[in-house]
Amino acid sequence: MRFFIVTSILVGLCGTAPAQPASTCGDFSTYTNPQSGKSTCYLIETSWASWNEAEADCVQRGGHLASIHDDNLNSFLRNAARDAGIYDSFHIGLTDARFGSGFAWSDDSVLNYSNFGPGIPNINYGHCMYLQIQNLPGLSSGLWFNEQCDDYNLPYVCTKN
Ligand SMILES: *[C@@H]1O[C@H](CO)[C@@H](O)[C@H](O)[C@H]1NC(C)=O
Repeated sequence: MRFFIVTSILVGLCGTAPAQPASTCGDFSTYTNPQSGKSTCYLIETSWASWNEAEADCVQRGGHLASIHDDNLNSFLRNAARDAGIYDSFHIGLTDARFGSGFAWSDDSVLNYSNFGPGIPNINYGHCMYLQIQNLPGLSSGLWFNEQCDDYNLPYVCTKN
């Protein structure tokens, strides 16, 4: 009897458990980097909010505004946002508004990759960052630019690890 019950529970769990990446990311989608094999959970939000509001929403959903650690992920998120109907730009998690010194990711991960536009970062434009979807002639894709944290509304992308 006990054996039967345990077996039934195991079968039930295996039968309903989604594939590994989906269960890790929950409501988020999964991106697996083809070079490093590292998976990132991401969520594209097409409604518009300020950087601060967007970060709060990402936190409520269990993540943060997107932290980006290599060119593959940067290009992937740019293309995925464009494919989701975001044509101009979206907030990412880089800011120097919270930690006192220098730019840092809102999820506290290491800043080991950047894709700043020409003359950026420039805090005269604000203390938060967005990723531009449109390419500038002769420059790399998905460049990052400064923006105001409070009064510049854009769609946004959350990530969680
Ligand atoms: C950069 O930081 C991220 C997040 O901590 C880490 O996963 C990744 O391996 C790092 N990349 C390099 C090239 O050090």
